[in-house]
Amino acid sequence: MPSRETAKERLVTLREELNLHAHRYYVQDAPLISDGEYDLLFQELLTLEEQFPELQTPDSPSRRVGGAPLPQFETVEHRFPMLSLENAFNDDHLRDFEARLQRFLKTQTTLSFMAEPKLDGLAVEIIYEQGLMTMGLTRGDGKHGETITNNLQTIASIPSKLCQPAGKPIPARIEVRGEVFLAIQSFQELNENRQREGEPLFANPRNAAAGSLRQLDSTITAQRPLDFFAYGVGDPTALPCASQTEILQYLGELGFKINPLAKYCPDISTTIAHFHALAAQRDNLPYEIDGMVVKVDDLSLQQRLGNKARSPRWAIAAKFPASQATTRLTDIIFSIGRTGAVTPVAVLEPVNVGGVMVSRATLHNEDEIKRKDLRVGDTVLIQRAGDVIPEVVKPIPENRDGTEKTIQMPEHCPEPECRHPLLRVSGESATRCPNPHCPAQRVRALSHFTGKAGLDIEGLGAKGVGQLMASGLVKDIPDLYHLQADDLAALDGWGNKSAEKTLIAINNSKKTGLAKFIAALGIRYVGEVTADLLASSFSSLEQLLAASKDSTDLLLEIEGIGEQAAASTRDYFNDPAVQEMLHQLTLLGLTPLPPTQESEKQPLHDKVMLFTGSLTSFSRNEAKARVKAMGGQVASSLSKKVTHLVCGEKAGSKLKKAQALGITILNEEEFTDLIATH
Ligand code: IVH
Repeated sequence: MPSRETAKERLVTLREELNLHAHRYYVQDAPLISDGEYDLLFQELLTLEEQFPELQTPDSPSRRVGGAPLPQFETVEHRFPMLSLENAFNDDHLRDFEARLQRFLKTQTTLSFMAEPKLDGLAVEIIYEQGLMTMGLTRGDGKHGETITNNLQTIASIPSKLCQPAGKPIPARIEVRGEVFLAIQSFQELNENRQREGEPLFANPRNAAAGSLRQLDSTITAQRPLDFFAYGVGDPTALPCASQTEILQYLGELGFKINPLAKYCPDISTTIAHFHALAAQRDNLPYEIDGMVVKVDDLSLQQRLGNKARSPRWAIAAKFPASQATTRLTDIIFSIGRTGAVTPVAVLEPVNVGGVMVSRATLHNEDEIKRKDLRVGDTVLIQRAGDVIPEVVKPIPENRDGTEKTIQMPEHCPEPECRHPLLRVSGESATRCPNPHCPAQRVRALSHFTGKAGLDIEGLGAKGVGQLMASGLVKDIPDLYHLQADDLAALDGWGNKSAEKTLIAINNSKKTGLAKFIAALGIRYVGEVTADLLASSFSSLEQLLAASKDSTDLLLEIEGIGEQAAASTRDYFNDPAVQEMLHQLTLLGLTPLPPTQESEKQPLHDKVMLFTGSLTSFSRNEAKARVKAMGGQVASSLSKKVTHLVCGEKAGSKLKKAQALGITILNEEEFTDLIATH
């Protein structure tokens, strides 16, 4: 055995050499030594680290083989949310995108873009502090991700230590974002192996990559040849870059792999041409792509454009045309949603559509079936566009032989224990079961509450909720919080361990946020975005209840909340049964927390602005977005809640009324100063 001193010195050299060779091989595809030589160096490193475990470092290439299994993944908040993208499905959508940007920026100048292949893998974020990788996260729900640091450390093309770019600094902290993926050939080899071992096969490379990344045992991840392309950062303003082009170049200099097909496009026509060029190459690429991401290149324009609730305004995903296949529609089943809507679902002979087996497709409602003239027994055309749910495009009438049967909506609720007559309100497309006690609806509503779109109680999916309701243990939400471990353990397929884990998850869900809680209730027309708006306008559940009492007036004052959502919210909270349920939940200790105090730190958090007249240096939309981004609210009409009236040119009658109400009046210059100084 060498002396500790000798080992220490040798380890430094080995790590540097191995990191360099890994970079040359996995990132640059230009190895300097043979695989055999690399293996020898790696073996030497492993042996030395085994002999002197205290000399191991976090950036050691030995981490690439994985480490001890974790009990579970920890959830961490992203410093900057990981947003998703809006889609464009054709050239016109891309031109509209440019026009929208120009309107928002109030400019006619040509915009330039970065166009990057949209890899079909998994978005991750890797945090580096002082050049060293300190944490790796999944995208999660966009706001919170799971720490998969050990797993990401096994990916050879992810540097554990950043390279020093010539003439530029290494940032003190950087959140690198990109896509983890599995090449098509690696996916096929992996499945062949699994078939030999009698293990279940992965449906496509994306699922295989996801399954590999979500391993608590990183030695399993290490055996999967995952790869990574970097495409962005959490906070671009912290970098020495003025454009997306420069960001990609900088990330390359820091040691990341950048997709060579990313292209700077000086205008939207070049962007569209690149989209067609990529589509033509698609089938010859070694990895799967499902479209092209178009990003406004100039970072200062990105900054001005900002974000909407879920996606940035400055980027869009241009999707490749859908993959299609034909199959037979063998039957129709009717499923009951949480609000009682009865949805016809086509049962199909399983068919492979663009790499995914499809055996069901929603037909939405009665009108849709009539419009498409679908019949049971028809040959039908199915399509899937990327991550979009499969749909039935049309029947192929030439294939009919007269045995096909037309489709009728049922007259009674298909749930055997309900059978209530169904209703179709005129003017609405949905057919509904109006029975609030319909067991099928209750199961759906409750599994919405516990599911991903609700409180996300791990271990309690639709199946478990169904079991709990069938056993009579749970009838409504509050019953969940009375459950004991024994109750759960007694259910079919449950054990003590899963029962205890789930009970902890149920208990933890009491500390939920207000927005999540509102979304979990499953109020009609109140999805995640509306729930967020409600939560940030009312600081507690009691306030929201009070505001919804008997009228929609206060709800409608919130910018972004429409008539339907307001009416539905009012009706929901005025239902005595709902009030009783919420009261029970409060007694059980469920007190949703208002949105983070963060919002109070935001400069305009207590300001409500109303705009009148036209502004000259930016569009009304940009002005509104800027106010919201700084925590302020935008009103749509004059009321006592308004704190500032911003007057552009030709301000009308609002000005006089506002003066009478004593509201602060700002002209465009004063408004520009206000948002600039904050
Ligand atoms: S930019 C805020 N660039 O697409 C900007 N995303 O809906 C959002 N994706 O799952 C991300 N390739 O992982 C960006 N070159 C690329 C991308 C890319 C693939 C994925 C991303 C996420 C989805 C965004």
